Amino acid sequence: MTIPRVTLNNGVQIPQLGYGTYKLPPAETRDLVLRAFDAGYRHVDTAQMYRNEREVGLAVAASGLPRDEVFVTTKLNNAFHAHDDALAAFDRSLTELGLDFVDLFLIHWPLPAVGLYTQAWGALEEIYASGRARAIGVSNFQPSHLARVLETGTVVPAVNQVEVHPYLRQDEVRAFDAAHGIVTEAWSPLGRGTVLADPVVAVVASRHGVTPAQVVLRWHVQRGDVVFPKSATPSRIAQNADIFGFALDDDDMVAIDALHRDERTGSHPDTENRTGR
Ligand SMILES: NC(=O)c1ccc[n+]([C@@H]2O[C@H](COP(=O)([O-])OP(=O)(O)OC[C@H]3O[C@@H](n4cnc5c(N)ncnc54)[C@H](OP(=O)(O)O)[C@@H]3O)[C@@H](O)[C@H]2O)c1
Repeated sequence: MTIPRVTLNNGVQIPQLGYGTYKLPPAETRDLVLRAFDAGYRHVDTAQMYRNEREVGLAVAASGLPRDEVFVTTKLNNAFHAHDDALAAFDRSLTELGLDFVDLFLIHWPLPAVGLYTQAWGALEEIYASGRARAIGVSNFQPSHLARVLETGTVVPAVNQVEVHPYLRQDEVRAFDAAHGIVTEAWSPLGRGTVLADPVVAVVASRHGVTPAQVVLRWHVQRGDVVFPKSATPSRIAQNADIFGFALDDDDMVAIDALHRDERTGSHPDTENRTGR
């Protein structure tokens, strides 16, 4: 199985399918990430907030894979947007992961009421210049937040990682990202499981002889977004990577597009301002 790669605005290539690690049981995380590598994944999405960077790093080391064949993303936690705090937090991430560099480092949330995300971006630009992050980007940034980063910064974010699934198409954010050369990464691509029981998804799945999760992940991939479904279930880890042997047709895509109902499973970035997470 070959997972396609998407080229970021600085030429770095990211596998379009990765493995999400939010809420994996800590004691099982190392082995689950190793299972994902066995199933063909070469991209892992973690965060300081998930408190599992150490286990992800242990899996990378134990895999025996050459470092340049694994793409590792981590994210700056909300308490550390001040410039020096961001630099120190990044150093801690490298230590936890046991790596000399990460492939992608993101600001996890903009926290607009805290008002420090442009300062945090300045720190990420320094980290990028030092070569310890091959690419830098943001997460949960609305177009208004991205516009400020574009005005005040010198590096255009490589990605914007936002909640996207059939119940939340994110047309406006994705259009803004695309217009500025920013790749959209879709978090909670399965809507944390909510979209899998949808009857429209079930009909498309049975027509193709695949599962609802495979249909939804295929919909994301055909829209061009980067995805990293999370599963703590080995059979689902393998199933979620097995989406490159079939294709949805235009009617399937339109039917799934029509499921949009502006429904979030997580916080809204305009109102999420907690720093203690
Ligand atoms: N930047 C951000 O703010 C942010 C926020 C949220 C998530 N993320 C990232 O995005 C990743 C994915 O999002 P997520 O974990 O919230 O949700 P998700 O991947 O949309 O859904 C995960 C849920 O779906 C279930 N599932 C997975 N594959 C399945 C399958 N083939 N069939 C049936 N059920 C299946 C999982 O169950 P089991 O585990 O029991 O198999 C789990 O309950 C995260 O792990 C994290 O890396 C980022």
